[in-house]
Amino acid sequence: DPSLREVADPTGRFIGTAVNDSLLNDSTYRNIAATEFDSVTAENAMKWESVEPQRGQYDWAGGDRLVDFAQQNGQLVYGHTLVWHSQMPDWLENGSFSDTELREIMTDHVTTQVGRYRGEVQRWDVVNEAFNEDGSFRQSKFYQQLGASYIADSFRAARAADPDAKLFINDYNTETQNAKSDGLYRLVQDLLAQGVPIDGVGFQNHLIVGNVNGSAIRQNLQRFADLGLEVAVTELDIRMRMPADSSKLQQQARDYRAVADACLAVDACSGITVWGISDRDSWVPDVFEGEGAACPWDDNYRPKPAYDALRDAFVAA
Ligand code: G3I
Repeated sequence: DPSLREVADPTGRFIGTAVNDSLLNDSTYRNIAATEFDSVTAENAMKWESVEPQRGQYDWAGGDRLVDFAQQNGQLVYGHTLVWHSQMPDWLENGSFSDTELREIMTDHVTTQVGRYRGEVQRWDVVNEAFNEDGSFRQSKFYQQLGASYIADSFRAARAADPDAKLFINDYNTETQNAKSDGLYRLVQDLLAQGVPIDGVGFQNHLIVGNVNGSAIRQNLQRFADLGLEVAVTELDIRMRMPADSSKLQQQARDYRAVADACLAVDACSGITVWGISDRDSWVPDVFEGEGAACPWDDNYRPKPAYDALRDAFVAA
């Protein structure tokens, strides 16, 4: 059977996965990551706490391993993520800085990291999860001290550091039209009107089996695309209440198919990244008590119906 990347290729879209740096030594994991996908995102290794654990002391080991892996396997790299309220290093999270100093720390970080991977990372989540559910700005350290201008400043710094990388804003619960995605939409319109260098919007798609409305997802992707931007499905997984059974797995397959079809129906949707390969490695059970089985491969790295559904979607496109 053809791999996901083989069936995705003729559609002009990428099929990606989050890669967990600590699993790259496992040959089964590594083989699936290499053969099934043509794009990779660091699950954690390019986050601020990973790359600059002490102020001014960078650790690029995990990021570099991912980039090397991608180059060995002819894959794109999706950079995740530069400015985010979560997984900040302690010195930043707990430090107190003047507004001027914080702005400088933030733009220096963007400049340093994007510059480090210039020409090697094709897309960056420059700003991640900037919104509350009601569409207002999240009260992150950056927003509290710098106001919404932290977003424009981050994008400008990223563009200057690599003019060829595509710059994204990324969020969750923005897949369909709602208060949160409306807030995101207004921000993106403002940024474009001000000439801020933004190229795309990422939709995480951490979804729930049985709760997926493909046409609502397609319409929402299309309204952002109509602003002239690229859109992408950046962190797809679809969780269920455990234990899994065959009817839940079949519903999950239909839900994966609906998300893939939604992207494939929108010309500006450049690709789909799944947030992990195997259910055994997924973040979901750690965060949602009693839920899991959200990925396309099961605990034993066997492809699930969701895997077939993804493949069918590309074949049909
Ligand atoms: O690095 C420590 C390690 O030293 C320690 O031994 C271990 C013990 O638990 O924890 C390790 O840190 C974990 C880290 O992943 C690296 O593996 C954290 O506990 C764990 O909370 C962290 O979870 C990550 C989560 O982001 C944190 O926000 C998940 O792996 C990752 O899948 C998840 O990804 C996010 C996206 O970045 C943004 N969108 C939502 C998505 C799911 O939450």
